[in-house]
Amino acid sequence: MKKKFYVTTPIYYVNDVPHIGHTCTTIAADIIARYHKLLGKEVFFLTGTDEHGAKVAEAAQKKGLLPKKFCDQVSKNFQEIWPKLNVEYDYFIRTTNPEHEKIVQEIIKKIYKNGDIYKARYEGLYCLGCEKFITETELTNGCCPLHPNEKVQKQSEENYFFKLSKYVPQLIKAIEDPKNKYHYQISPQSKREEVLSKLKTGVDDLSISRANVPWGIPIPWDKSQTIYVWVDALINYYSALKINEKKEFWPANLHLLAKDILWFHAVIWEAMLISAKISLPKEVFIHSFYMIDGQKMSKSLGNVISPQKLLERYGVDGTRYLIASSFPYDSDSDVGWKRFTEKYNADLANGLGNLVARVATLASRTENKYQKLNIKITDKKFKDYHLSFKRYQFNEALTFIWEKISQADKQIDRKHPWTLKGKELEKVLQPLVKEIQEIALLLKPFLPETAEKIEKQFSGPKVKSAKPLFPRL
Ligand code: MSP
Repeated sequence: MKKKFYVTTPIYYVNDVPHIGHTCTTIAADIIARYHKLLGKEVFFLTGTDEHGAKVAEAAQKKGLLPKKFCDQVSKNFQEIWPKLNVEYDYFIRTTNPEHEKIVQEIIKKIYKNGDIYKARYEGLYCLGCEKFITETELTNGCCPLHPNEKVQKQSEENYFFKLSKYVPQLIKAIEDPKNKYHYQISPQSKREEVLSKLKTGVDDLSISRANVPWGIPIPWDKSQTIYVWVDALINYYSALKINEKKEFWPANLHLLAKDILWFHAVIWEAMLISAKISLPKEVFIHSFYMIDGQKMSKSLGNVISPQKLLERYGVDGTRYLIASSFPYDSDSDVGWKRFTEKYNADLANGLGNLVARVATLASRTENKYQKLNIKITDKKFKDYHLSFKRYQFNEALTFIWEKISQADKQIDRKHPWTLKGKELEKVLQPLVKEIQEIALLLKPFLPETAEKIEKQFSGPKVKSAKPLFPRL
């Protein structure tokens, strides 16, 4: 039986249209999914949209639409853009799916029956942008640091609370001890430490219902309240498998997300699962943010980069390459149009594209049938490539490939194959063709279309010269 691998992206709020931030996580997840398929695993890749809560309801109202109608429209933007980027998700979940709603109610009932939910009055400040309560000490200039242009709201109401604090000791053990039955990995290391230190300074219980947010799933035993949007949303990772009758993929191998939603994914989700007696995901990987020319991306600054614009300029694989090579691993990544175009020209038009064109033109002058070689992805010589993947250091994996490109270029410059003919030329080309076939194999998770084009071009009866893979910009 094939090994299984289950990877997820956050489900995106429908108050916004897709931008380069969502694109970053989703393409990263696709690269990982394709990588595990290449290793021979059976993969399930989930993405979707998060459609309940006050923030979405407000966005719908501003558009003069009923929430569901509004969600249908915006969710479609996400559903349609991913295939254009060659993102092959297996299922797109929407939290307004009635099957999801039912599963959320079942799980919350289990947590309730387990004695982990109680009623109390909540008084505090709420950030609508984050959809979460925020403490006075977390404020910067009276606002949430992530949403400096929005006012925090004072709230006071009777809510249901989840006994999050009860699970703190268990979570600390689960994170720290690899032999613990609940063990899960938080990576990178810096984020693991951040979570542990926050857990150790003490954690409050979590309000998990709303009295004044009708756009949500009702609390099963008290219809006057709806389930807090984050509790509803997190359960998508589990409900999606049930909906698809793919429960054998649980627990998830990897939840991929950015630092803004670390706490929900590395603490709250796991506590809920322990309480509901469901096994825990194996790993949560948290990346950082894209900054645009040194600034946060925002509608008001007008610096938002959309996936559509990226596609128009750089094509599918150009976009995937630029995203993967600038992936904000441990710290924020500064990107911008100028640097994207420079990188595209240097690495794709000149680097990869030029090498493939040079060798193809020379090979097309020979009679040799350059058969597809039987190269194994698990070959020892690709060890560093695999190590980079283990740590989600896409840029490193790409550097490994581009090092091969530059070595091949050097070979050509050294051997002057353009001065050779017949058997002599074939002898020089043989290892170069093999090198290009290896490069195509390693490129598969990143640039699936290009890898396929190269493979086709360099196997079969005759190598053909072809249109440039990446036209210069
Ligand atoms: N709906 C919640 C997630 C629920 S998951 C159970 C949410 N949605 S969101 O639309 O705000 O998406 C946040 C995610 O989008 C981040 O965690 C990250 O994956 C991605 N990004 C949004 N802006 C980003 C950048 N500027 N840079 C990189 N990724 C960022 O939170």
